[in-house]
Amino acid sequence: MALKHLHNIEDLRQAAHTYLPRLVWDYFEGGAEDEQCLQRNRAAYAAIELLPNYLVDVSAPDTRTTLFGHTWRSCFGIAPMGLQGFARAGADLMLARAAAARGIPFVLSGAGTASIEAVCAACEHAWFQLYVARDQAVTRDLVRRARDSGVEVLVLTVDAPVHSKRERDLRNGFVPPPRIRWPLLLEMLQHPAWCLDKLRHGLPRFENWAPYAGADASAQAIADYFSRQIPFTQTWQDLAELRHEWPGRLVLKGLLSAADAQRAAAVGVDALILSNHGGRVLDSAPSPLHQLALVRAAVGADMPLMLDSGLRRGSDIVKALALGADFVWIGRPALYGVAAHGQAGAERAIEVLQEELELTLAQIGRPCVSTLASAGELLCGR
Ligand SMILES: Cc1cc2nc3c(=O)[nH]c(=O)nc-3n(C[C@H](O)[C@H](O)[C@H](O)COP(=O)(O)O)c2cc1C
Repeated sequence: MALKHLHNIEDLRQAAHTYLPRLVWDYFEGGAEDEQCLQRNRAAYAAIELLPNYLVDVSAPDTRTTLFGHTWRSCFGIAPMGLQGFARAGADLMLARAAAARGIPFVLSGAGTASIEAVCAACEHAWFQLYVARDQAVTRDLVRRARDSGVEVLVLTVDAPVHSKRERDLRNGFVPPPRIRWPLLLEMLQHPAWCLDKLRHGLPRFENWAPYAGADASAQAIADYFSRQIPFTQTWQDLAELRHEWPGRLVLKGLLSAADAQRAAAVGVDALILSNHGGRVLDSAPSPLHQLALVRAAVGADMPLMLDSGLRRGSDIVKALALGADFVWIGRPALYGVAAHGQAGAERAIEVLQEELELTLAQIGRPCVSTLASAGELLCGR
């Protein structure tokens, strides 16, 4: 279906579902265990109402947001997601370029399928998400490469200390080492455009890990190497060392508790992304939206607080900002777009959210996002 007929993120989701084979769809879409956290992420936004104010001039919506000295065109960005190349070849770069074209930030995943160097060459102001490796020399080298490539912000993800239990992937055999059953391989044939993309370009690789997996390592050998290195336990001491080593901005992603947030602030991180990894890790984790007020009270007004997990509408962005977030991130919505229609699809996802965001701001009588943080009175949570 033509992009202009895809009116919301759900339309893009359906288009991605049609394009992708079940194996890949389940990996992108699935959550941990009973997927209750996934449902809670959506329910948290649905439970909040916005109380509009009228007779306000809303003719000039302003969603510009300044983070670490750079002003973005909007108040949301694209969160790091691993194995995007399974959506389509070059998906990471397509998302990076889509974000750059629309003036929002993109975070390359530590499990991404494009190299740090390639993403930095494709877009200015790149962010990189680090997964700490078992081999400390590898972690140090990833940090060095990020610095040498001009990465401005390093995002350390801490909410996946062990493999999570995503049962769709277990059933499908899409876990290391992969053991994919015949019915699923045959099901792939019902997605010929996706198959053609893979025949043309081959399977995606964990590009950033290729240099450490041995000369001429295959995509599978790199994946095996990656799964021996990650996940690896990190402690507050490791965070303090990374803070010492990394001269740029350091953001911690995946915290949910006020106590952890306070401790992170004391170590000197520059900002936090409250996240439950899009419901993919701890099925009993709370929605970041519900934790926002507690964390804000713990870290004070000056620490930039961001969040992700479950945003699917422009009005969700407004709710998060009105509850005190400084910035938000989207995961799957961007992935649906790039899977369904490449860079143009990713841009469509951004455009849809931006249009809905501006529409909501106008409808509630708050055209400027920077005034939303003081808009507690706009919210009704019945
Ligand atoms: C397929 C997929 C892969 C992901 N991989 C990573 C990753 O490599 N690193 C990371 O920090 N978060 C990862 N995430 C979590 C996202 O950064 C983000 O927290 C989450 O997708 C937000 O929720 P949403 O998808 O509901 O918007 C991944 C999410 C998905 C859906």
